[in-house]
Amino acid sequence: MSGEAAGEGPVLVVGSGFVGSEIARRLAGAGRAVTLASRGRPGRPPEAYGARWTSLDATDPAACAEVVAGVGPRAVVLVHGPSDVTWCEAHPAEAAEAHAAATASFAALPGLDRLVMISTDNVFDGASAHPVEETPTAPANAYGRAKRRAEELLLARAVSPATVLRVSLVYGHEPADGGKWLNFFASCAHRLVRGEPVEAPDDQWTTPVLVDDVAAVTALLLRPGAAVPELLHLGGPERVSRAGWAREVARALGVPPELVRPVPRASGRYASRPENTCLASTRLAAVPGMGAVPLRGVAAGAAALAPAFRTP
Ligand SMILES: NC(=O)c1ccc[n+]([C@@H]2O[C@H](COP(=O)([O-])OP(=O)(O)OC[C@H]3O[C@@H](n4cnc5c(N)ncnc54)[C@H](OP(=O)(O)O)[C@@H]3O)[C@@H](O)[C@H]2O)c1
Repeated sequence: MSGEAAGEGPVLVVGSGFVGSEIARRLAGAGRAVTLASRGRPGRPPEAYGARWTSLDATDPAACAEVVAGVGPRAVVLVHGPSDVTWCEAHPAEAAEAHAAATASFAALPGLDRLVMISTDNVFDGASAHPVEETPTAPANAYGRAKRRAEELLLARAVSPATVLRVSLVYGHEPADGGKWLNFFASCAHRLVRGEPVEAPDDQWTTPVLVDDVAAVTALLLRPGAAVPELLHLGGPERVSRAGWAREVARALGVPPELVRPVPRASGRYASRPENTCLASTRLAAVPGMGAVPLRGVAAGAAALAPAFRTP
């Protein structure tokens, strides 16, 4: 298996944060030669799971060309920032330019088996509870507009096979002292194991997807010769409110679900979020190999992650 995967050639993963690191770990575990690239070294050392890291500012075309020459990738995954919705709202032009510049450099690369961009449900305005690939986009914030523009650029200019993989809210384990904002699950779980209350809206809905499942689907898309559409949605199998999800986290951790206090989204930090940050798909089930990637619902995801949060 690992010889076959290694024969599939090197992969360059641009962005070494929460999602990029898990994709790299998954691919390295399958025997592929993986290089992560970002401006700063990732907190989680890639060498620990058999990948390597190189310095790259992906907005610099010459630097991208140099890294590509050094790595010789057969496949590229674009999973870089800026990813902070609040920062993008305050710096809309910089956010748009950064995503466009990085995308343009990699879209011009010939000879790849596939170029995958990880995109977002923020390309929709949240009016639909189940937006599918055919649903017209309508970004409601600067982050969504920057990502949508990068999607269009990729699909218009890519000279190698390319896929935009829009993913819904991604969750997984992150350490409490990771030095950045935490995904919703991790932020709730760290508070709940300390016995602290969690306020969560009961009127903001999402289709959360476990980071391991995002990595597994991404790995499928990169297989040489895979018949993959150019636009795909990946949400978790359940649409849940944040409050309902947080109660599921509490149950998995063995703490009283009453620690979760449902609040209206208008009263807290989710006031600017639409009612729905969800994704559904008409295409994902037909991707070759998807039958072997059962996407986990919130109870299964919470059960899988709970031990990592109980350990100090
Ligand atoms: N997390 C989610 O729920 C989610 C959902 C949907 C889509 N996504 C997409 O997935 C991507 C990554 O999300 P994430 O949660 O993993 O974010 P993250 O943890 O903030 O990681 C972002 C990574 O991008 C790197 N980066 C930023 N600017 C860069 C540049 N100019 N050149 C090279 N690397 C750069 C950062 O490192 P440096 O700052 O050191 O360069 C970091 O390694 C984003 O594009 C986001 O739109 C995420």
